[in-house]
Amino acid sequence: MIPLYDRIQELKAMYPDPRSAVMPALQLAQERHGGWLPEQAFREVADALDLTPAYCLSIASFYDMFRLEPVGEHVIEVCTNISCGLNGAQQVVEAFASELGLGAGETSGDGAWTLRTVECLGGCGWATVVAVNNRHRLHVQAADVPGIVAELRGESA
Ligand code: FES
Repeated sequence: MIPLYDRIQELKAMYPDPRSAVMPALQLAQERHGGWLPEQAFREVADALDLTPAYCLSIASFYDMFRLEPVGEHVIEVCTNISCGLNGAQQVVEAFASELGLGAGETSGDGAWTLRTVECLGGCGWATVVAVNNRHRLHVQAADVPGIVAELRGESA
């Protein structure tokens, strides 16, 4: 695997201003750190882009796509913004919470699951949108949730 520093240099070369590479660099660092951004990740990205860790944290803390705490093996992110909210997002959240025994924002003790609510995932016309391990599922309804969880558990739905 190419070292993170070297991969970020490749990203940096794609932009006229190194700061423009901060988001893809953070995304890459998040992938390399098991799906979240520990302090070390901010130091690594900052070092590679000649920025400060505080600047990188300020970017990451603004966007839902960056996670500042450890996450489970499976990450369920339910959009609860306006379109999804009007199309049953809260019921979808409650269905996942019931299936997984978790509240929104929690990770299971065994490290298998994280349930999050997030801002708009960019699929407002296909509400409710749920990102399951970073892959978007469209038109999700509460009744779909047991099948999604069973699928992720490796069970037949
Ligand atoms: S409001 Fe849910 S995807 Fe935009």
